[in-house]
Amino acid sequence: MSTRRKPIVAGNWKMNLDGAKARSLTEAVAARAGEAGSVDLVLCPPALYATTVAAALGLAAGNSPSGVALGGQNAHDKESGAFTGEVAPGMLRDIGSRYCILGHSERRTLFGETDATVNAKVKAVLAAGLTPIVCVGESLEERESGRTEAVVSEQVLGSLAGIPAADLAKLVVAYEPVWAIGTGKVATPQQAQDVHALVRSLLARLSSPTVADTIRIQYGGSVKPDNAAELAACPDIDGALVGGASLKADDFLAIAKAFG
Ligand code: 13P
Repeated sequence: MSTRRKPIVAGNWKMNLDGAKARSLTEAVAARAGEAGSVDLVLCPPALYATTVAAALGLAAGNSPSGVALGGQNAHDKESGAFTGEVAPGMLRDIGSRYCILGHSERRTLFGETDATVNAKVKAVLAAGLTPIVCVGESLEERESGRTEAVVSEQVLGSLAGIPAADLAKLVVAYEPVWAIGTGKVATPQQAQDVHALVRSLLARLSSPTVADTIRIQYGGSVKPDNAAELAACPDIDGALVGGASLKADDFLAIAKAFG
């Protein structure tokens, strides 16, 4: 983690919890957010509970009294229209969200999202005034066949194609090796750092070294309180995108503290 970039730790709740649990988890994180230190905290609940979380955070006119921000887990690339079951970026913004995860590997592998889909969503989410958290990462088979660099490069360059440097400067990238997600098998700090450095070099190619130096790159995949500190110590790891451990306030805050 660099002193130039403020760390960002986001909880991706995926399709978990119910309304009451979403509220109590939000209240617990908000009440103790100060423990994390100087780190941006983001909660990404299921879309149906986004307003519950917004209310529990006391979000008003884009302000969060606790400093904890709200994020979506996905969004459509159109502003409105006949897209049954979908959520528009402007709707996320309307209820007080500041972030939106895009191109999560579960969206890519289970819901057929491609780099082109993700690219359209990144543009739409930026246009709505939200910060995209753009996910990339290789599968186990891709890593074992020595294709990590090629796969991640293609995802970064494809997902972020045509985005002006001024907009690239606003977004967050999350490196989530698919084999580390929900498996308890975390990437070693060196494995993660190597890919983060690659991602930063690609961002420099898309913008400039100066802009790339300001962009935050999160690591995701089995981040827990007991492995967060060694990841946080890596120069290009600027935070975490946390799945399972974000469902417990103690664990989420302990991870945030390791980065703060
Ligand atoms: P886990 O932390 O449960 O491995 O999930 C990571 C993830 O997919 C976050 O987006």
